[in-house]
Amino acid sequence: MSEVRLDKERSAAFMANMTGIMNGGALALMCSIGHKTGLFDTMAGMAPATSSEIADAAGLDERYVREWLAAMTAGEIVDHDPPAGTYVLPAEHSGLLTRAAGPLNLTTYCQYVSLLGQVEDEVVDAFRNGGGVPYERYPQFQTLMAESSGQRLSQALIPQVVPLLPGGAERLDTGIDVADIGCGSGRALNLLASTYPRSRFTGFDIARGALDQARADAEAAGNTNVEFVERDAAQLGEDARFDLATSFDAVHDQAHPDAMIAGIFAALRPGGAYLCVEPKASSHLHENLDLPMAPMMYTISTMHCMTVSLAYGGQGLGTAWGEQLAVEKLGNAGFVEIEVTGIKADRANHYLLATKPGGDRPHHGRTT
Ligand SMILES: C[S@@+](CC[C@H](N)C(=O)[O-])C[C@H]1O[C@@H](n2cnc3c(N)ncnc32)[C@H](O)[C@@H]1O
Repeated sequence: MSEVRLDKERSAAFMANMTGIMNGGALALMCSIGHKTGLFDTMAGMAPATSSEIADAAGLDERYVREWLAAMTAGEIVDHDPPAGTYVLPAEHSGLLTRAAGPLNLTTYCQYVSLLGQVEDEVVDAFRNGGGVPYERYPQFQTLMAESSGQRLSQALIPQVVPLLPGGAERLDTGIDVADIGCGSGRALNLLASTYPRSRFTGFDIARGALDQARADAEAAGNTNVEFVERDAAQLGEDARFDLATSFDAVHDQAHPDAMIAGIFAALRPGGAYLCVEPKASSHLHENLDLPMAPMMYTISTMHCMTVSLAYGGQGLGTAWGEQLAVEKLGNAGFVEIEVTGIKADRANHYLLATKPGGDRPHHGRTT
């Protein structure tokens, strides 16, 4: 056996990398707690304060807050003044950590680390025995998904996504039939339904709890032009009923994505459009390595998106199935004029637009 000669510098660099990985994972959990307890929101804009003052302001137990502040200080998220015994959240940091930061609030996404950790043993079991972890093992998934996609879309859907669509806002204003497949808690559809009362919207999903939430939100918003239907996307069974179909992050974790896309094609009227929003990735691993969130994307895939699909005997496309495969699958279903585009407010997703041949096709509503 030949002797392995170690590059000591490379070993030392990897040691530092591994240490950073362990600290990063730990801090993601603490950031998740900072979000859930409202500690970041409390500290934003607060003058330097002691742990007691911060705990009082947040209505929390001081001992826990002090330990959390220690982790935040060690992680260089919070500044600490030892003589004064005070802590402060710098404004440069709060812009990425608070609810006021809107779509830039990264602590929302930190919650995925603890959510995925809850199924670690079951995923390990699937590594050994195949299969996957079904949706019901993630009781908080739909709530977190609604929070994270709501955060992303609330400000961008109408001003940035709608102009990508054929006919843009004008067509939705006039009144068309729209389907959202894998609608989850219906954040996107309810926002569209409130904004375009002359159009009619139908959301499809299999998650009963999410659909109940979507219906409750529709009622609270007074949306009478939207319905939410419990149905397997692989058996949509609709025939030329819609002018526009959308799916937001809902193809890659399907058990049967080809059947879903074929069902969407059949559900559209000739000339209808499909907006398929999927994680921004290439279908080739080596082309994803420079993406800022690549490790997170493959982790979420292993621990949720891929495994839920495999749990139902599905394809297990994975979160990073990528634009090349997406374009191929859309083309195989019969879609034409497939275009991969995007919006400024959402750097993490591709916005694929595809058209069903035939009919009168409106021009897209883009102004740029
Ligand atoms: C990643 S979530 C996206 C939810 C929503 N579009 C959003 O952006 O918040 C994927 C959604 O697909 C739904 N889904 C998965 N398999 C499905 C199936 N076979 N039929 C219908 N919906 C399905 C899930 O219940 C979940 O709501």
